[in-house]
This record gives sequence, structure tokens and C-alpha cells, in this order.
Amino acid sequence: MATLIAPSMLSADFGKLAADVQMVNESDADIFHLDIMDGLFVPNISYGFPVVDAISRLAKKPLDAHLMIVDPDRYVERFAQSGVKYLSVHIEACTHLHRTLQNIRERGMKAGIALNPHTPASLLKDILPDADFVLVMSVNPGFGGQKFIESSLEKISDIREMALKRAPHLLIEVDGGVNKENAPLLVKAGADILVAGNSIFSTPSPAEAVRELKSICC
Ligand code: DX5
Ligand code: ZN
Repeated sequence: MATLIAPSMLSADFGKLAADVQMVNESDADIFHLDIMDGLFVPNISYGFPVVDAISRLAKKPLDAHLMIVDPDRYVERFAQSGVKYLSVHIEACTHLHRTLQNIRERGMKAGIALNPHTPASLLKDILPDADFVLVMSVNPGFGGQKFIESSLEKISDIREMALKRAPHLLIEVDGGVNKENAPLLVKAGADILVAGNSIFSTPSPAEAVRELKSICC
């Protein structure tokens, strides 16, 4: 499968959000990555449903919402109403993760498990068959523009190996500090979806940055 590129809209210019959504629509990108932060699970607040719905109305590609919030079950139904296709919750925020993943799937979305950098891949062993994708955080969640944590590469390989036996259709998404230097290594380790914020939106030509990432990976 070709690697999917998911620009993180956290790094977009919210003063011209429609133009940045349009850029993604017209670029080689595959997915819109939406970072939802509540100021409790992570030390930052991002944006909520008015912004998600505005992006959803303009987007011509699937939406991937990454919930960095406590008690994500409360909002699963609402994200389905917003037209989200991929919904990930943090393993660290879910007491009954199996139930939460079922809830997401029952609402017609792909269910993802996000892991903080300190959370070992081994925790996924029993739950992996119940997930459609795993999101490996390669920075501490909360902010864009941070430095990639190198140990994420080995974590991706470990999850890929585990998935061969337990969940052959599992997609692995990597999020945080992704750029054109580490992208080939991430794909080699087993990543299917590359999220990139700063390395796309902080360049003079974001569409060109997307094209470059996509060409490196496919
Ligand atoms: C961080 C978010 C990321 C972030 C990625 O908490 O989950 O999606 O926006 O941004 P970069 O690519 O700049 O690290
Ligand atoms: Zn994210």
C-alpha cells in the first residue's frame, strides 16, 4: 500500500483556514489530521466542533481526528456526526478501551489506538485485533513543531511485527516531528500514515512539501 500523507491542521493558519484546507484538497495529501486537545490530557487546548465542522464542509479527503482528551467516549457520536472517518483515542485515557473501540466501529468509523512515547507497544498485545490502526506518538502530545523521538522507530517495527500475526490489516500512523529526513526510515519500519504539521505548513510551499513527502515514501 502507498504511504498516506496526513497534514496536521494544527499547524495551519487559522486566519485563512479555508485556503489551507483547499491547499490540502489540491495537494498529494491523502487525509486531514485534526488534533483535539482538552487542556487536561495534554497541557494545551486546540479547537473544537465549530472548527472541525468547518473543515469537514470544505474537505474533499477523509478526516482523521486524534483525541488527546480525557473520557473520549463522551464525544464519539459527535465526531461521527462531523463526518470523521478515522478516530483515535489514547490508550492512557481509556479505562475500557475495548468498549471504546467497539463504540467507534459501531458508528462507522475506523478505530485507532494512540500511544504516548513512554507507553510500550507490548500493551497492545490483546487489543490489537480490535483496532483498525495504531497511532504512534513520536513527540509528547500537546504541541506541533517538536523534535522527533528516535525510539519511535523501534516501536513501529515492534507493532508491525505484532500485527503480522494478530491484526494483518492494521495501519500504523506516526505523529510528531515527521519530516523528509526521517520519513523513509519510518516507512521502512512499517508506518503506513505519516502525519506532518510543521514540516508542511512552515515551508514556503506547503503543497510542494506534501509532494516531496509523498514522493519519498511511495
Ligand atoms: C501533537 C499532535 C501532532 C502535531 C504534529 O500533539 O498530535 O499531530 O500537530 O505536528 P508536527 O509535525 O509539527 O510535530
Ligand atoms: Zn496528532
